[in-house]
Amino acid sequence: MNTTATLDRAFVRAQFPAFSEPSLSGQAFFENAGGSYACGRVIERLGEYYRRLKVQPYYAFSASREAGEWMDHSRARLAEYLGVASEEVHFGPSTSQNTYVLAQAVRPLLAPGDELIVTNQDHEANSGAWRRLAAAGIGVREWRVDAESGTLDPRALEPLIGRRTRLLAFPHASNIVAHENPVAQICEQARAAGIISVVDGVSWAPHGLPDIPSLHADVYLFSLYKTYGPHQGLMVVRRSLIERLANEGHYFNAHSVLKRLVPAGPDHAQIAAASGIAEYFDALDAHHYPDAARAGRAARVRALLRAAETPLLAPLLEFLHRRPDVRLLGPADPRVRAATVAFVPQRLAPGEVGRRLAERGFMAGYGNFYAVRLLEALGVDPERGAVRASFVHYTTAAEVIGLIEALDAALMP
Ligand SMILES: Cc1ncc(COP(=O)(O)O)c(C=O)c1O
Repeated sequence: MNTTATLDRAFVRAQFPAFSEPSLSGQAFFENAGGSYACGRVIERLGEYYRRLKVQPYYAFSASREAGEWMDHSRARLAEYLGVASEEVHFGPSTSQNTYVLAQAVRPLLAPGDELIVTNQDHEANSGAWRRLAAAGIGVREWRVDAESGTLDPRALEPLIGRRTRLLAFPHASNIVAHENPVAQICEQARAAGIISVVDGVSWAPHGLPDIPSLHADVYLFSLYKTYGPHQGLMVVRRSLIERLANEGHYFNAHSVLKRLVPAGPDHAQIAAASGIAEYFDALDAHHYPDAARAGRAARVRALLRAAETPLLAPLLEFLHRRPDVRLLGPADPRVRAATVAFVPQRLAPGEVGRRLAERGFMAGYGNFYAVRLLEALGVDPERGAVRASFVHYTTAAEVIGLIEALDAALMP
């Protein structure tokens, strides 16, 4: 199957209860980068788990056995969509907490005088946890964005890599400028130099779960509540790396790969419900490619989502790019970025624009989105921040056109 099908949005929206929820009707959702709607399968599984399986998992009695099976199933199904082994998938309460735990687990591998590289493009989740290691004598170098475009130039990375560089943390895409960083190229460069790569995929994953092996990342993190699922963070850690990391779980569980990065008890129900994301993707694939073999569905679904978003992104970017009273953050080319569009209104406060959009039935975000360092680098006051309209594959062309019209009115001083 070479050609990508056209996304059937009516089918897609029927999989999301939010689209038939009366209290949300008449409002177009453009704050997906903050958290997507959850698909029906996830909500059903969560409800069923709480009704039927809300017991301690992995004992011999039936509810407990099934609860454990559901959790293992989620891990296996998401691993399949990410192209990794089940035991490389680790759940945690959020990406911020996952990076925090990971940084603690990496710390004993580092000696004073070792160095790591962070960016000023990241959400603070994949920045602060690493920068704090400076207190243990670790040198921190910053890979800086271009002050105009907000993009990271891979050529600027090379001079930052030194003999003692041990780790590089960077985003697949920023939650503000949304430019897709060439992850595979950067991670290969890091691996060749013996550097651990930690990629924050939170902004990218909702637009298609990536095939992690082809990215060559040692660690890849994203948040399931932004990929149509429950409020959990997911972190893929390459098997050979996890065995080198310090155990952050209880000491007597150190031998258990899946417990080493889980200092607290996991959220059983949410992990169990996460397989609903894979089931949603299965349904998407079966609906659009009824005759295709199961193998290859991850790539097909990824392409389907991407192909649905890019044409809708073009008019929004073009509208914002040509307005003199707006500074679009990040590239205007829809092919090189995610459908997360942040901009700074020149004549109004971002919060005011957000309120006006809300009055017109458009849900959008405003503020600094925890990417304070990036806004500062771009010369944007983080106290005021930016307006952000982010969408995903279930967004319709009519909603995007409506947003453009609403923005046209909302930007009037
Ligand atoms: C790019 C990016 N990284 C990390 C995070 C933090 O994720 P979590 O809320 O799961 O801690 C966010 C949250 O918005 C984000 O947008």
